[in-house]
Amino acid sequence: MKPLGSSLFPFAFALFFSFFWATWAHTHENFLQCLSLGSENSSSISEVIYTPSNSSYSSVLQFSIQNPRFSTPATPKPLVILTPSHVSHIQAAINCSQTHGMQIRVRSGGHDFEGLSYVSDVPFVLIDLINLRSISVDAENSTAWVQAGAAIGEVYYRIAEKSRNLGFPAGISTTLGVGGHFSGGGYGTMLRKYGLAADNIIGAQLVDVKGRILDRGSMGEDLFWAIRGGGGASFGIILSWKIKLVHVPSTVTVFTVSRNLEQNATKLVHRWQYVAAKLHEDLFIRVSLTSVNSSQEGKRTIQALFDSLYLGGIDKLLPMMRQSFPELGLVREDCIEMSWIESILYFANFRSGESLDVLLNRTPPIRYPRIKAKSDYVQEPIPEPGLEGIWQRFYEKEGETGLMVLTPYGGRMSEISESATPFPHRAGNIYQIYYRVYWLEEGTAASERHISWMRRLYSYMAPYVSKSPRAAYVNYRDLDIGTNSKGNTSYRRARIWGNKYFKSNFDRLVHVKTVVDPVNFFKNEQSIPPFSFGRKKGGD
Ligand SMILES: Cc1cc2nc3c(=O)[nH]c(=O)nc-3n(C[C@H](O)[C@H](O)[C@H](O)COP(=O)(O)OP(=O)(O)OC[C@H]3O[C@@H](n4cnc5c(N)ncnc54)[C@H](O)[C@@H]3O)c2cc1C
Ligand SMILES: *[C@@H]1O[C@H](CO)[C@@H](O)[C@H](O)[C@H]1NC(C)=O
Ligand SMILES: *[C@@H]1O[C@H](CO)[C@@H](O)[C@H](O)[C@H]1NC(C)=O
Ligand SMILES: *[C@@H]1O[C@H](CO)[C@@H](O)[C@H](O)[C@H]1NC(C)=O
Ligand SMILES: *[C@@H]1O[C@H](CO)[C@@H](O)[C@H](O)[C@H]1NC(C)=O
Ligand SMILES: *[C@@H]1O[C@H](CO)[C@@H](O)[C@H](O)[C@H]1NC(C)=O
Ligand SMILES: *[C@@H]1O[C@H](CO)[C@@H](O)[C@H](O)[C@H]1NC(C)=O
Ligand SMILES: *[C@@H]1O[C@H](CO)[C@@H](O)[C@H](O)[C@H]1NC(C)=O
Repeated sequence: MKPLGSSLFPFAFALFFSFFWATWAHTHENFLQCLSLGSENSSSISEVIYTPSNSSYSSVLQFSIQNPRFSTPATPKPLVILTPSHVSHIQAAINCSQTHGMQIRVRSGGHDFEGLSYVSDVPFVLIDLINLRSISVDAENSTAWVQAGAAIGEVYYRIAEKSRNLGFPAGISTTLGVGGHFSGGGYGTMLRKYGLAADNIIGAQLVDVKGRILDRGSMGEDLFWAIRGGGGASFGIILSWKIKLVHVPSTVTVFTVSRNLEQNATKLVHRWQYVAAKLHEDLFIRVSLTSVNSSQEGKRTIQALFDSLYLGGIDKLLPMMRQSFPELGLVREDCIEMSWIESILYFANFRSGESLDVLLNRTPPIRYPRIKAKSDYVQEPIPEPGLEGIWQRFYEKEGETGLMVLTPYGGRMSEISESATPFPHRAGNIYQIYYRVYWLEEGTAASERHISWMRRLYSYMAPYVSKSPRAAYVNYRDLDIGTNSKGNTSYRRARIWGNKYFKSNFDRLVHVKTVVDPVNFFKNEQSIPPFSFGRKKGGD
């Protein structure tokens, strides 16, 4: 027998939508009108507004969706997309959204793993910063101003254009947007020498909930602290960052050495855990783990890829490796000398010999169809049987497209105190784990299978990783954390992920939020809640 609800459903649905659209059309028009009246330059704002009836709406929306899992017909879409070319457009959007009850989602590079920068289930306007991406490098003073919509590859390119000896310690994928990436910390191959991107920010400009443009002086040190690792989207819209550039040698060395289980991969990964965080800070060696076909027909094996950046030449690297990690068996032929900017292309998976200009076009060399990611921190080496249990999970069907990247900490990362920025994962961590699985199949059944594989792996890892809290990296956004504990108020749930991402810094973030955005206008599923919000009875 058909349940009654299902025959009524289409009717109720249509009724709801006609009501919704009628109401919406009204708000919509008022909102658009508000934008053009509110903006200092109404002639130019009309050139950067896209409504769904605009033929470019779809391509503007798609352009920087980096996880197509959130790009299906069923994914909620923005009612308006704004691609501001002037700060007054952002101010108008903030002002008008509040007047007309719209939420804002801000997007820089679009890499948020849970799509929070371009998806929301309440009516929202998407502010895409693609047009605000100028970069000005002051090589003499080793600083640069970069607008939030710039991709990190563009920043690297502009720095290298000015000097072979300047660089910046940020992420490995060159399409990352500096707006989101720096706000959550941001690490790359130089983290052991220079820390995170956020550790090297010396100024910022932001538009707050009142539409005011604040700089480091006028925002105050508390807010300036919060935006350097507290995650984007909670405190305002970042317009630009002032960054401190770092010294890089004229010649760096890279290598990638691959070992499978038949080549002692388990022993090598085990050994790596004792070595990687203690190496000289100029030497970064990470490990990527995947399952691959073995040379034996029909069998699979685990591949451990050791890839490395050394801030110096081969002649110094080889003796260093012989002394610290002889088991890897690195030989001169494995190593390639290049400039720092060429190492950026190398790590970002561009083909060797590719022109540096690829850094200016914002298309990644590989775009994964649908992904789920998670993170962990490891404080004690995992024993060999523990590693073998991981291999077993990678042999499962859904594990074929699984990946774990182990990124060594130590060096500069251990010298910075836990409270210097909101990013708390410092001394005591030997490495970070990034987990990722991707899948090609459409549909929720396939998604559920792969996500559930990821959750099983994560649950298997519990005994081997940090505890109380089991820490996580905010830039590896994971809505599994906290959001699924039903019965908790949103504030109590926020404490769950808040402690994982920020540890004891969470309280200070809540304090800053309470001061700068008490009405909780800038919010998403995992934004910092203001304090009053948590006090409200049952405040969900
Ligand atoms: C393929 C891939 C590779 C990655 N590699 C690395 C890596 O090497 N190192 C690393 O540290 N991380 C890495 N990450 C994670 C990455 O740092 C985060 O996803 C980061 O948030 C991306 O920033 P974005 O601007 O590209 O993303 P977006 O999705 O645009 O933004 C992320 C969050 O920040 C908010 N936000 C964006 N811009 C602003 C702004 N101007 N003002 C206020 N809030 C804003 C968004 O609303 C959203 O909540 C990777 C992610 C992916 C998908
Ligand atoms: C936004 O509102 C603030 C305060 O009401 C006002 O000072 C500012 O000029 C407004 N900005 C725009 C662009 O409308
Ligand atoms: C307004 O925008 C137009 C088009 O972008 C530009 O030509 C003009 O100079 C702007 N005027 C002001 C006052 O900013
Ligand atoms: C789409 O929107 C852009 C930006 O506002 C505008 O320049 C363009 O004319 C619009 N195109 C159509 C077909 O409406
Ligand atoms: C370097 O900084 C100083 C002090 O801020 C400034 O006066 C000088 O113009 C800067 N140099 C360049 C090349 O901009
Ligand atoms: C693996 O390790 C053993 C001893 O630990 C060694 O004898 C053997 O040569 C190694 N195999 C490879 C392929 O490196
Ligand atoms: C691995 O082996 C399977 C079956 O033996 C085959 O279908 C698949 O194409 C192989 N994959 C690669 C990358 O070679
Ligand atoms: C709230 O979340 C915590 C941590 O996950 C959990 O232990 C607790 O049982 C939850 N409370 C309720 C009422 O579900």
